Amino acid sequence: MNDPTVRFNAALHHLGVIMDGNGRWAQQRGLPRSAGHQAGVQALKRLVSFAGEYNIRIITAFAFSTENWHRPSSEVNFLMRLLAETIAKEIDELAEKGVHLRFIGRLHELPKDLIRTLDGAMARTAANDQLVLNVALNYGGRAEIVDAVRKIADLVQRGQLALDDIGEELVARQMTTEGLPDPDLIIRTGGEHRLSNFLLWQSAYAELWVTSTYWPDFDRRELVRALMAYQVRKRRFGRIHEI
Ligand code: IPE
Ligand code: IPE
Ligand code: MG
Repeated sequence: MNDPTVRFNAALHHLGVIMDGNGRWAQQRGLPRSAGHQAGVQALKRLVSFAGEYNIRIITAFAFSTENWHRPSSEVNFLMRLLAETIAKEIDELAEKGVHLRFIGRLHELPKDLIRTLDGAMARTAANDQLVLNVALNYGGRAEIVDAVRKIADLVQRGQLALDDIGEELVARQMTTEGLPDPDLIIRTGGEHRLSNFLLWQSAYAELWVTSTYWPDFDRRELVRALMAYQVRKRRFGRIHEI
């Protein structure tokens, strides 16, 4: 089961990761929380480097939630800087590997220079098709639903949309994940059994897998454990048999 070389063939197109436990990982080592976030970047880099071997085509990684602004400003500022620096440092390699970088969340509320970096990275990698790396930044599932409701209400108010046109597909198209399939599996590291406002609309039928391993220690072995568990799940989508 823990053979890291195992090939994985079940249909898993979209993997969501709630990258939790950076702070506790650092604390355990007597290091500042910032060191945990730095180590967390390396863990995401590792995941991106081997995801394709397991037929994963889309990764949505939760990097900063709408609630994370309530942390001390020193930590928030560090995270914003780390994000900008990481993108600047990694963009060449990601582009070369065919990774399409996307960012979801209320991006317009982020610092201006970070927005410029995000826009540049998205534009530069838009035509890539090896892996979509979707980074959720200032993202909250509730905020996303609120924004979608506002867009729909606006269209109705302008007379461009009738109430009867509003269905699940139309709502899904207003989400920041527009064009992407829903996540098949959501992995949460750090041991908490909750979504913490991650992909609320999209996770309706996602399989959930929690590990107590802190995010910076997440490696190929952990991914394989999650995939093995996923592989034997019976996805019924409300029916009586698996589809
Ligand atoms: C996850 O790790 C990263 C972010 C939320 C930015 P945490 O920083 O939440 O680490 P813990 O949960 O405090 O250990
Ligand atoms: C979830 O982790 C958000 C990210 C991983 C970015 P948190 O550490 O913010 O979640 P809670 O506070 O434990 O629910
Ligand atoms: Mg946490």
